[in-house]
Amino acid sequence: MSRRVLVTGGAGFIGSNFVHYLVAHTDDMVTVLDKFTYAGNEASLAGLPVERVTVVRGDICDAGLVDRLVAESDVVVHYAAESHNDNSLHDPHPFLDTNIIGSYTLLEAVRRHGTRYHHISTDEVYGDLAFDNPERFTEHTPYNPSSPYSATKAGSDLLVRAWVRSFGVEATLSNCSNNYGPRQHVEKFIPRQITNVLCGDRPKLYGAGTNVRDWIHADDHSSAVLRIIERGRIGETYLIGADGERNNRAVLEAILTAMGEPADAYDHVTDRPGHDLRYAIDSTKLREELGWRPALQDFDRGLQRTIDWYRANEAWWRPQKAATEARYLELGR
Ligand code: NAD
Ligand code: TYD
Repeated sequence: MSRRVLVTGGAGFIGSNFVHYLVAHTDDMVTVLDKFTYAGNEASLAGLPVERVTVVRGDICDAGLVDRLVAESDVVVHYAAESHNDNSLHDPHPFLDTNIIGSYTLLEAVRRHGTRYHHISTDEVYGDLAFDNPERFTEHTPYNPSSPYSATKAGSDLLVRAWVRSFGVEATLSNCSNNYGPRQHVEKFIPRQITNVLCGDRPKLYGAGTNVRDWIHADDHSSAVLRIIERGRIGETYLIGADGERNNRAVLEAILTAMGEPADAYDHVTDRPGHDLRYAIDSTKLREELGWRPALQDFDRGLQRTIDWYRANEAWWRPQKAATEARYLELGR
């Protein structure tokens, strides 16, 4: 059965991959609501069938617009966010507007219209784990965010839980680990280093590079979200992860080697303030309750495909590269 799905932030990295995934795997009609900030890219939606995908340029804080689009939808999947930790340390204000007020605006609209809502969040709401801690994050880990980004994501998650309990909103939540894949903005770790190599510039590693991230391919994130929308229990939170823990140095060395460069051809730069040490997801609940499994767990293969994508799509990333590196220069990173 074809649903009418409203995807906020559908011109960003994970949102656009989700739109491509929905078009390929369902009969759904999709409306993208995106403000096209520096992180939104029309080219990420290129090639999608116009008879199935409508793109609306607008702000999730615009209550009138949001109300109209939610009224016309069966399901809302909320990806739109200010998403980069480094930017949130420099200027937190847009994070409060979009991540808190924007999410609140959507919740009020789905409450009025009785619309099914899925809230996209991050494992960063849980803070970090020590390197030697054998535990991983579960749905029961207490919230302990470190940065303005993760604090605003945590705040929006708590709004969703309150709207479920107090107003009976039909919502589910998911908290996913670090995504990689095509169409990720060049400010983020993996695409920044790939495009640095393609530009003949040295990659930049924060601090010693021992910080650990738990990598998942964006398509596996999409398949998990679709599974939760279709089979998830209302009011529940599901953690999404693919057992992909690696430290940053190992990821960078893998990129350099795959691109034919010496594995040590990078610079150490000033560390990020408050830099979370380690994230790690236990996705047992999603796997056991909903039968989900990641399909793209071979990180080296996924990384090679991602490198190939950036090589083949210079026109997609080139316009963002100089401005992004200029911002990093200001931050000293
Ligand atoms: P992104 O920065 O690539 O994309 C965000 C999109 O939201 C952009 O298209 C932008 O234009 C749009 N947007 C921003 N403010 C808006 C507003 N006020 N109104 C409408 N649109 C607006 O981000 P991403 O990495 O694709 O992350 C998407 C979601 O997934 C976020 O909620 C993020 O917290 C979550 N998440 C990301 C990761 C990750 O590894 N990147 C991991 C787990 C969860
Ligand atoms: P990032 O992609 O910004 O994601 P997050 O902060 O949400 O984990 O960064 C991933 C990791 O890579 C993080 O530990 C910071 C590190 N990093 C670098 O070492 N160099 C860089 O140039 C960037 C952007 C990130």
